Amino acid sequence: MPTGHVFIGTSLDGFVARTDGSLDWLILPEHKDEDHGYAAFIQDIDAIVMGRGSYEAVLAFDAWPYDKPVLVLSRQLAGTEPPDALRGKVSFADLTPSAAMEHLGRKGATRVYVDGGQIVQAFLRDGLIADMVISRVPVLIGEGRSLFGPLARDVKLRHERTVTFPSGLVQSHYSLRA
Ligand SMILES: NC(=O)c1ccc[n+]([C@@H]2O[C@H](COP(=O)([O-])OP(=O)(O)OC[C@H]3O[C@@H](n4cnc5c(N)ncnc54)[C@H](OP(=O)(O)O)[C@@H]3O)[C@@H](O)[C@H]2O)c1
Repeated sequence: MPTGHVFIGTSLDGFVARTDGSLDWLILPEHKDEDHGYAAFIQDIDAIVMGRGSYEAVLAFDAWPYDKPVLVLSRQLAGTEPPDALRGKVSFADLTPSAAMEHLGRKGATRVYVDGGQIVQAFLRDGLIADMVISRVPVLIGEGRSLFGPLARDVKLRHERTVTFPSGLVQSHYSLRA
């Protein structure tokens, strides 16, 4: 079974996107000269699993940003084909988090980037996240799509380190405790 890794940005009040999905508050001009470590993180990743919400957001970008295989978990999209430009890069499936990880493991993945609010919550609930890098942008947006949500039991984390950037972004690295 591959390990799951989260690298995500949130508002200080814990949202990954506004309610309408917009991210205007997340990437600010003052971040442009800062290296938040995304390139180093993604280099070590074999495959990406994300929810339909994140997939639809990425589709609106100017260009497809990933050179790793992307598995989109979606009841709506399962059984359909991705757009021609994404053939061979993206696949859709309706799988539980464990089944998704087993599927990616059979394809040779050992480290999987887990992305999207609801999807991160589901993978956390099922004990499939090994570590998380959470970058908090110093802004309160009041409401939106949450990174974290209800849990059947507490999830204990080990704080590895926290780095602060001149822009005010505060990045904390956590590993999950057994
Ligand atoms: N701040 C950041 O760093 C960051 C990172 C990633 C994404 N985002 C933003 O976050 C937003 C998307 O997050 P989100 O929480 O709305 O959606 P999400 O987690 O990306 O996707 C949720 C969707 O995934 C599908 N799904 C399949 N299996 C699921 C399961 N076991 N549990 C939950 N959902 C499952 C469902 O779609 P079906 O109805 O098709 O089944 C569900 O609606 C976008 O606006 C994106 O831009 C921000």
